[in-house]
Amino acid sequence: MEEELQRLVAAARTEVENIGGPAQLEEFRVRYLGRKGLLSGILRGLGALPAADKPRLGAKANEAKAAIEELYAAKNAALGPGQANFRPVADLSLPGRRPAHGRQHPISRVMAETCAIFAAMGFDIAEGPNVELDYYNFEALNIPAHHPARDMHDTFYISDSILLRTHTSPMQARIMERQEPPLRVVAPGQVYRCDSDITHTPMFHQVEGFLVDEDVSFSDLKGVLTLFVNKMFGSGVGLRFRPSFFPFTEPSAEVDIACVICGGKGCRVCKQTGWLEILGSGLIDPAVFEKVGYDPKRYSGFAFGLGVERVAMLTYGIDDIRLFYENDLRFLSQF
Ligand code: DAH
Repeated sequence: MEEELQRLVAAARTEVENIGGPAQLEEFRVRYLGRKGLLSGILRGLGALPAADKPRLGAKANEAKAAIEELYAAKNAALGPGQANFRPVADLSLPGRRPAHGRQHPISRVMAETCAIFAAMGFDIAEGPNVELDYYNFEALNIPAHHPARDMHDTFYISDSILLRTHTSPMQARIMERQEPPLRVVAPGQVYRCDSDITHTPMFHQVEGFLVDEDVSFSDLKGVLTLFVNKMFGSGVGLRFRPSFFPFTEPSAEVDIACVICGGKGCRVCKQTGWLEILGSGLIDPAVFEKVGYDPKRYSGFAFGLGVERVAMLTYGIDDIRLFYENDLRFLSQF
């Protein structure tokens, strides 16, 4: 049988040389490779062979089949386009496919932009742990156990003393504890609260910022934040400081910008107020300085915490926060 196969391949090789057109080639294919063709005829004999010979001869038969198929394919290609049997691999005249390239997520973009604006004002950038000690998240920020302000934070606790940070403010205590003033720092990162609806997700982002030195006043805070808002939202956007309360700042203020959707006239997004809150801020409470070992008589400072999703929603006109986390490319590729 081995000889038979060899003879068949040799015959096919000679014959294929003399083929001049597609009809002849098709005839060749049927005669050699067809279901009732010469190769099948020989293979049918395989069944009658001793079991010991079958694997070796089976392999030979496959080799012969591959060799004849290759002769056929080479001739088919050589006959060229315009011939009935010619099947090109691809249409080489088609324009190439552009590889899709990724884009920065809108949240990453707003964080990077925010950090860049503060970096240009001389702020350093620092990052800290998402899994935080109760001490830094609350205690060091003048929020003792059972303080009513803990109610504002729907905390995910890991144990009695370990939690997922509910804000980026613990970075104030972590950094002040290790470094002496003057300090200018922004700390971007993820924060967690047990909350979920069209304006809340259980994980979201903040950028914390703080500055500590001698003679820092509320006007420094206003100047720095006004400059930030003008860079971020365009100069001339309306801005107001509204009195508020945070345990770690005194006095405290929330900062609103004029609604970017209605320009201040009142709409659904600003709940008819004309204003949108973007951050909390204030002068750092002396009690926080005492915890980290700074002399509150010598140093003063301001701090702020910016809601990144909030800013991204306003910048890009997005009305459902959950869109940021669905990973839908139709949404993400717009930015
Ligand atoms: N940590 C506050 C929050 O998550 C926001 C905040 C308010 C940060 C005032 C500050 C600040 O640094 O001074 O709601």
